[in-house]
Amino acid sequence: MIILGIETSCDDTGIAIVEVAPTKVGVVFDILSNTISSQIKVHQKYGGVVPNLAAREHLKNIEPCLKTTFKQVKTKPKDIDLIAVTIGPGLIPSLLIGVHFAKTLAYKWQKPIVGVNHIEAHILAILLKNKKIKFPAIALVVSGGHTQLILMSDIGKYKILGETRDDAAGECFDKVAKLLGLGYPGGPEISKQAEKCKKSNIDLTRPMINHKNYDFSFSGLKTAVLYKTKKQKVNIPEMAKETQQAIIDVLISKTMKAAKECKAKTIILSGGVAANEELRNQLNVKCKLLNVNFLVPTKNLCTDNGTMIAVAGYFNKSTKNVKANANLRIGQ
Ligand code: KG4
Ligand code: ZN
Repeated sequence: MIILGIETSCDDTGIAIVEVAPTKVGVVFDILSNTISSQIKVHQKYGGVVPNLAAREHLKNIEPCLKTTFKQVKTKPKDIDLIAVTIGPGLIPSLLIGVHFAKTLAYKWQKPIVGVNHIEAHILAILLKNKKIKFPAIALVVSGGHTQLILMSDIGKYKILGETRDDAAGECFDKVAKLLGLGYPGGPEISKQAEKCKKSNIDLTRPMINHKNYDFSFSGLKTAVLYKTKKQKVNIPEMAKETQQAIIDVLISKTMKAAKECKAKTIILSGGVAANEELRNQLNVKCKLLNVNFLVPTKNLCTDNGTMIAVAGYFNKSTKNVKANANLRIGQ
């Protein structure tokens, strides 16, 4: 089965073709083609994504992106068995472009279309490495828009244990980077600066780390950095290291607590922030100590892309999510 995955929920236009083959050992996903058109240059000067500009860029880039995706393979539109598209959560103007584009293709090519939840797609990106998930699993989804701890009893069976009450982890990276005069997106910039510092002497708060729930809060951390930078000139690598470690400490502490309480066999780390080397390494060490499997997508598949949408589309294909294309709406 060949699936076309379309992602436009934020500021990356992602289109991919994924071949799915059920085998004796499970379903195997093969990426045939994967195109991502980044809008970093457009949003950089604002230090964050501007929704209307993002939609305008998606509109401009989506057709060239589709053409590039098909150019790299022998696959033709007639070979596509299913079109999968992100229907939420995300920025409404951005989502609308992807959904309308997908609906147009489905009508033109007369193909079935399925709506995909962006968070589920981030989690299922792990299957592109052909990794098996042993259940129950705890998924930590950390991106620019979301920070969620999810208990997964099977593919498609999720329970949100906790989430951020204000800023997402990625948003905190982005906003602190802006405060420090670094570029956008902030995550990679902060970690690049952090690498330059051996030991930070700055002390930042670890918000909600001792609360008896699985919720997060990152806006206070950003404010703490703001006050410290206002009071005195700070050493940027030192501040970057401490900010990164404060975020990592809270994420890991809550994830391990959930894993122990739910007797998890697997911990999945996904979303754009999962590309963070320190977070990957430190969580991996903790998983080894607890003797649970640790799964994380390859770095290029942590941030938004069309391949993860195709994978999630495969699992949704037999559910009520498959709609006559005229009925497919965002946010469902
Ligand atoms: O999943 P994603 O591409 O888009 C959303 O669904 O939001 O995540 C983007 C977020 C941004 O906030 C970016 O700063 C963060 O992921 N990010 C990182 C790293 N690479 C991307 N955060 C920390 N370390 C990184 N290496
Ligand atoms: Zn995302």
